[in-house]
Amino acid sequence: MSIGSTTNITQAALRDVPGPLLELTDVRTHFRTPRGLVRAVDGVSFTLERGRSLGIVGESGSGKTILSRSIMGLLPTKGTERSGSIRFAGTEVGNKSRKEMRHIWGKEMAMIFQDPMTSLNPLMRIGDQIAEPLRLHLGMSKADAAATARRLLQDVRIPEPDRRLAQYPHEMSGGMRQRVMIAIAMACGPTALFADEPTTALDVTVQAQILDLLGEQRRERNMSLVLVTHDLGVVAGHTDEIAVMYGGKLVEKAPTKRLFAAMKMPYTEGLLASIPKLEDRSHSRLNVIPGRPPDLVNPPKGCRFAPRCPYASARCNEEEPPLTATQDDPDHSYACWYPVGSPEYHEARARINASAGVN
Ligand SMILES: Nc1ncnc2c1ncn2[C@@H]1O[C@H](COP(=O)(O)OP(=O)(O)OP(=O)(O)O)[C@@H](O)[C@H]1O
Ligand code: SF4
Ligand SMILES: [Mg+2]
Repeated sequence: MSIGSTTNITQAALRDVPGPLLELTDVRTHFRTPRGLVRAVDGVSFTLERGRSLGIVGESGSGKTILSRSIMGLLPTKGTERSGSIRFAGTEVGNKSRKEMRHIWGKEMAMIFQDPMTSLNPLMRIGDQIAEPLRLHLGMSKADAAATARRLLQDVRIPEPDRRLAQYPHEMSGGMRQRVMIAIAMACGPTALFADEPTTALDVTVQAQILDLLGEQRRERNMSLVLVTHDLGVVAGHTDEIAVMYGGKLVEKAPTKRLFAAMKMPYTEGLLASIPKLEDRSHSRLNVIPGRPPDLVNPPKGCRFAPRCPYASARCNEEEPPLTATQDDPDHSYACWYPVGSPEYHEARARINASAGVN
């Protein structure tokens, strides 16, 4: 990610503003294409308190990356239609230009991407890549930036930091490169870190190490973390809250433990059932819910999950369920007419079981 020059916005002041860190209201990001308008993010609202970690989960194409990029202000300029409000630490950032957002990137919000090889500059030494934002953004001298880069490599548990600082990305393993990306993201002490599928390309052991590292850094730096993934298993042990996306919409949101204890959306239930077992965690089973995600140019009229939902009824095909808080837990909201545990859900399950010959 490119980081702009030092800013006249006082980030310390932004960081200290009371109230939630993120407040999204009816955020829409649509793309004009020859086929029609792609409703990649279609009316998302939520709040994230400071220092908390949020997992954004959903299948491929559900809008996770575009939502994160919308918050970061990292969208293509051509053919993009964006609306709704995105408040970051009390400041509206949804209407800021890329140029204005440069003042916020790095210091206030940082993002790490799935594939560090495409984000790191292959022609630049690791040390210089970590030092660059420190010099540009914090105005550090060459010597101070080099010393800070060394400390950051130690923070992300890279052994022999002096040798590593002089290396190029291709001389490192995938896990090491992802640690370097985390070091770069941490360099200017961001208030919020967006990590988009940060471990998908890594094997299971390294994946766990990177997730632990992100959690550690978050706690030590009192930073908010938004962890984007298609794998509900990844966010289970690493986030305070989970937001589930389907077809560009938020369909369930709850504190992590409460979501797992009493999930409401049949789609979330499907995601849970599709978590790969430890013994076959090969990253290959990305879409085990039967059927395909909706066409975002012509989404279904009612519930977008209806064509794939085993419990769908006529109402689901006609009326779109609004995101509503559960009766006993205002922090747990979901968008479903017949949530998991409702009488209609049990009736539908009984019918499905009867037709499958299950008692
Ligand atoms: N520039 C663009 N123009 C048109 N459509 C786009 C553009 N960028 C993304 N999309 C579409 O927006 C939808 C949401 O994309 P997004 O990348 O946010 O999905 P995702 O949930 O991050 O998926 P994945 O898990 O595969 O990364 C997809 O249908 C995608 O094809
Ligand atoms: S509203 Fe209907 S189709 Fe949609 S998830 Fe709920 S039961 Fe399934
Ligand atoms: Mg994505």
